[in-house]
Amino acid sequence: MRNFLIAGNWKMNCGPAETRELLKGIKEQQGAMPDGVDGLVCPPAISLTAAADELQDITGIALGAQNVFYEDNGSFTGEVSTTMLNEVGCAYVILGHSERRQYFGESDTTVNAKVLKALDGGLRPVICVGESLKQRKADKQELNVRKQVQAALVDVEDGGATNLVIAYEPIWAIGTGESATPEQAQEMHEMIRSVLADLFDEDAADQVQIVYGGSMKPHNAEELLKQSDVDGGLIGGASLKADSFTDIIQIAE
Ligand code: G3P
Repeated sequence: MRNFLIAGNWKMNCGPAETRELLKGIKEQQGAMPDGVDGLVCPPAISLTAAADELQDITGIALGAQNVFYEDNGSFTGEVSTTMLNEVGCAYVILGHSERRQYFGESDTTVNAKVLKALDGGLRPVICVGESLKQRKADKQELNVRKQVQAALVDVEDGGATNLVIAYEPIWAIGTGESATPEQAQEMHEMIRSVLADLFDEDAADQVQIVYGGSMKPHNAEELLKQSDVDGGLIGGASLKADSFTDIIQIAE
């Protein structure tokens, strides 16, 4: 069966010094990851080297970036390549987060280009999808998320399916303290898995970790993680405190 993936998206928080401090706290409280649970932290690009250094003695927590560009090294001011992320020890990269779609103009097309580049460069993309409040109120959540998943995966070959993670993050639940209900999450995750089965095959779809993001906290993680298609969390606010992040890891165990 699938392992849980408990991932922290630190967003634009924690420079190198705070990164070291937070990871030291996680190390103190967690040590090694329990069997069946994969850990992941995604600090800002400037803190990746410090994080890689601290993670050397935490078994089972991988390093991820929050974005990557879809071209090789070259004249792309301000961007970071897959080669650079590999060099600092990243195994994952978050792509298509709603904040990047909203503030940085990321489209389904650029997300797809980045997914292909990440897979080609040996990184596991954590592809974020999710509907707005307006779309949910209009009962368009399935339609929207289905389209986002299909668009992100154009030209991904069958072998790529088992190297990707999908994060279902309803935009209305991000940073609001109001998470999706376990039933809402399960319904969307199940739908996403069926889209993956159509695009690839059932075996591949069964292997993909589909994680939930949007106000996952220690108090609601258990019910969310009990759902059969919820394979972990992409956690924002609660991943910035060692105790709440490790509490969620222990709940997953
Ligand atoms: O990517 C994680 C995310 O957007 C959820 O953030 O703060 O609601 O847990 P938060």
